[in-house]
Amino acid sequence: MHVARCIRKTRLFLKFITALLVVFIIRTTFISFKDNGRVAKNIYEKKNVGLFSNDYRTVNGLLQKANKNKAIVSSKKLFDSIYGQEVQVDSFDDAGLPQIMLREDKDRLTKDNTKKMSEIDFMKMLEEQKHGATKSPTNDNNIQVCVRFLNGTESCMFVNEYKRFRAREFVEDYANPFMKNNTKPTLQSYPDSILRPNPLIMIKDASRSINNVKIDEELRKEKAKRIRAGDTDIMKIPEVQRILSNVFEYMIPNIVHFIWFNCHRYLIHHYISMLSALRYQKPSLILFHTDCVPNGTYWAAFVEEAAEKLKIVKRTPPMSVWGQQVTRVEHQSDVARIHILLEVGGIYMDDDVVVLKSLDSLRDKEMVLGEENYDALANSIIMANKKSWFLRRWFEEYNNFNGSRWSDSSCFVPWSMWHLFPTTIYVVKEKMLRPNWEEVAYIYRELWDWRKSYTIHLYSRFMPVFDGRHERTLKELAVLNTTYGEISRHVIWGDSSFKDITDWILS
Ligand SMILES: *[C@@H]1O[C@H](CO)[C@@H](O)[C@H](O)[C@H]1NC(C)=O
Ligand SMILES: *[C@@H]1O[C@H](CO)[C@@H](O)[C@H](O)[C@H]1NC(C)=O
Ligand SMILES: *[C@@H]1O[C@H](CO)[C@@H](O)[C@H](O)[C@H]1NC(C)=O
Ligand SMILES: *[C@@H]1O[C@H](CO)[C@@H](O)[C@H](O)[C@H]1NC(C)=O
Ligand SMILES: *[C@@H]1O[C@H](CO)[C@@H](O)[C@H](O)[C@H]1NC(C)=O
Repeated sequence: MHVARCIRKTRLFLKFITALLVVFIIRTTFISFKDNGRVAKNIYEKKNVGLFSNDYRTVNGLLQKANKNKAIVSSKKLFDSIYGQEVQVDSFDDAGLPQIMLREDKDRLTKDNTKKMSEIDFMKMLEEQKHGATKSPTNDNNIQVCVRFLNGTESCMFVNEYKRFRAREFVEDYANPFMKNNTKPTLQSYPDSILRPNPLIMIKDASRSINNVKIDEELRKEKAKRIRAGDTDIMKIPEVQRILSNVFEYMIPNIVHFIWFNCHRYLIHHYISMLSALRYQKPSLILFHTDCVPNGTYWAAFVEEAAEKLKIVKRTPPMSVWGQQVTRVEHQSDVARIHILLEVGGIYMDDDVVVLKSLDSLRDKEMVLGEENYDALANSIIMANKKSWFLRRWFEEYNNFNGSRWSDSSCFVPWSMWHLFPTTIYVVKEKMLRPNWEEVAYIYRELWDWRKSYTIHLYSRFMPVFDGRHERTLKELAVLNTTYGEISRHVIWGDSSFKDITDWILS
């Protein structure tokens, strides 16, 4: 699992360090870069170099006070002894960025063994060193960060100490963004006595009838339209043929489907969802049905991780179902997932559903949905054999699709069908789609015990409100002390315990 985590942080680091000069003294050289020893030696020997404040919360204040080459040390925490003192900064490169100096030994400074690199190069080096790894980016046991005062005295700190300091500070800031309740929340099952709607409100025909000829005709027409538009014919994918012809395959084939309609950003929770399918469901194949292939760091990481298990399938969103217009992209995806499952079967997942443990014990059923509420089975995850009677009848019920009724066809229809035809479906209660969207605080603001669940739906739509942001960085997820944090670590690192971020702190 390799995820570059530099992009935004590099910029943060640059900001943090602007107008400051960092001096790294290193005893082991293992990097070769352009030697510019003379300049570095001059800088060092002028004895007016150096200010380093590592507390970036105070750096804004520092920058405000800096006037080109002077600054007040405002980091009381780190350099207590020089807090409030004025120290001098100089030496900027052509781009106005401070230079970083590395040298082999403080006492043996010579023209030849002193090396200098720009900060950008230094950041690049750090990134290369630790690409995807948690090991220390450099052999930094011997690296010190120093501040030199105008009177020539110096105050230094080993980088390791500095990193530990910064890591503690980061954990304080990011681990517990919300006050949690004292007790872990638990989910209540919906009691039988609860007043539920009459399933006949949604389902007009309570008999077990179905018009297979019409269904096949609708599917055939729909597919022909897609093939004409240049879409991939899934049944011609050799891996799909191989899986479907395997007589030892379970009722529900181990093919995971994701649908990605419309161009939009691929965020870390998409990555977590897809990686979780790969890691805990171990599918034979992941089909990614899309009309706009995503890009970016996390997408690249997923593609690399999934390797030959991932097949990108070109698919045009359905514009109609049973002759009725489908205009919203959410509804187009609702219809497409049923089309796909009727053609090949498998496991459809929303890109914010996370697999927590294998679903294999459910794959001997014909049709599986999760109970989301006392009156709803949601279609965020659907496990089905392509011949499932329930699935076909659900599709037939799309004859009554009404685009202005948001959840009828996707949630209330399957719920009503379950109540009318209970033997045709297996419903997972608390372990698939709970916490539901009304309980979403359990995910982002509490520590809920997710270990017995098969899957969890992140309801990413609510993430900005409940988690307070659209996306978290890997570093934040490494220490985030909420259900979401635990689940992210369980998926990304295979272990939900907190990750030590000390070695990432410079990036
Ligand atoms: C040099 O300056 C620093 C900070 O102002 C001060 O703490 C230190 O005692 C000074 N050293 C000498 C030798 O004057
Ligand atoms: C995580 O949260 C729980 C509940 O609030 C708290 O008891 C625990 O100390 C927290 N752990 C860390 C490392 O912050
Ligand atoms: C936590 O406690 C607050 C205040 O008692 C309550 O309003 C909230 O619903 C609780 N949160 C959860 C997830 O139980
Ligand atoms: C990456 O994806 C975004 C969002 O879909 C899109 O706007 C952008 O053009 C894509 N970039 C490239 C290089 O394909
Ligand atoms: C669709 O639902 C809306 C809102 O409930 C309703 O006003 C409209 O009559 C329905 N359309 C049809 C064709 O049933």
